[in-house]
Amino acid sequence: MAGWNPDYSVNVAPLDDQHKMLFRLIDDLGESIRQGKSESLGTTVIELDNYTLYHFITEERLLESYGYPGLERHRKEHEKFAASVKEFKNKLAQDNSTLSMDILNYLQNWLKNHILVTDKKYSSYLNEKGLY
Ligand code: FEO
Repeated sequence: MAGWNPDYSVNVAPLDDQHKMLFRLIDDLGESIRQGKSESLGTTVIELDNYTLYHFITEERLLESYGYPGLERHRKEHEKFAASVKEFKNKLAQDNSTLSMDILNYLQNWLKNHILVTDKKYSSYLNEKGLY
């Protein structure tokens, strides 16, 4: 998929950096699926699972520390996605043919929509607090 581009910027550098990494990991996943590399597929899903949790915790803690009013709804979206990634990871551990392009598309679309719609909502709030 096309990777991160400035349209996805939330105007807070550390969070943009983490989003770039998530795009990269999902891209790597796509490459592994296309090339049928089951070993790197397993490793990348584990990495994606870990990094997703790391990013969500970072973002939520930041929003919490700045008293962001939309945090609870935001957190619920994170929880749903984290559960999906975990489910894919567990399925893959049992049968590495289960991670299809459909699942990859789901991951890509979720990430894009979440950043463009939900994450973007905190940009101006954090910027007004002096965070870039
Ligand atoms: Fe950047 Fe809400 O995930």
